[in-house]
Amino acid sequence: MLAVSGLQSSYGDSQVLFGVDLSIGAGEVVTLLGRNGMGKTTTIKSIMGLIKPRAGEVRFGGVAVTGQAPHHIAKLGIGLVPEGRQVFPTLSVEENLIATSAARFGAPRWTLETVYALFPRLKERRANMGNQLSGGEQQMLAVGRALMTNPKLIILDEATEGLAPLIRQEIWDCLKRLKRDGEAILVIDKNVDALAAFADRHVILEKGRVVWTGSSAALLADPVLKDRYLHV
Ligand SMILES: Nc1ncnc2c1ncn2[C@@H]1O[C@H](COP(=O)(O)OP(=O)(O)O)[C@@H](O)[C@H]1O
Ligand SMILES: [Mg+2]
Repeated sequence: MLAVSGLQSSYGDSQVLFGVDLSIGAGEVVTLLGRNGMGKTTTIKSIMGLIKPRAGEVRFGGVAVTGQAPHHIAKLGIGLVPEGRQVFPTLSVEENLIATSAARFGAPRWTLETVYALFPRLKERRANMGNQLSGGEQQMLAVGRALMTNPKLIILDEATEGLAPLIRQEIWDCLKRLKRDGEAILVIDKNVDALAAFADRHVILEKGRVVWTGSSAALLADPVLKDRYLHV
């Protein structure tokens, strides 16, 4: 579904990605791991067209989309939950959700109703403005907003950063439910153990390069990986 190969990206003269390879199949949950500043967000931005890669290729659904406009790539079926959530502060919860809803033929899987069924809290808060929400509610809204585009792949950058443990658990439960429903997910987060409980594969970035990729069992079986590459 998503195939990234040899991706290189820079900010001005400073190169940050040095040939990242990454693939996600239908229904697969893949994580992108690594300490701060290793290039995770830059990888996501390069996939979404928010940064134009200097080399390499991004293919989605068999089509090369490298460096195309972000709205075009999103429309092909990638829903992004960005770092920092970025909900519209002066729109209500419901307006935030409607703002990204993609008109599709037939009966779309994700509508206000199905998003509210996934996050009953959002329904209770549907008339509240974006800036009146707690961090957890904002993150639920950011996930709901991504789902409203009826994506084939959902990408979460720092899925639970800054959230209280109980809210974190709600986000994990939500991702597990989405996985059971067959959604493909690319997720960045620092809670490796929580991710290992349901992800199919992990990709570890170190200074803009993939240094390890493998299953949850392989990740958990190798404590050296955590010490060397991850924030623990
Ligand atoms: N807008 C930017 N301009 C210049 N350098 C940046 C910018 N964003 C990130 N960087 C640098 O790129 C590197 C990778 O950052 P990033 O992809 O955000 O890492 P991560 O998401 O893994 O924490 C870091 O060294 C960071 O300082
Ligand atoms: Mg980041």
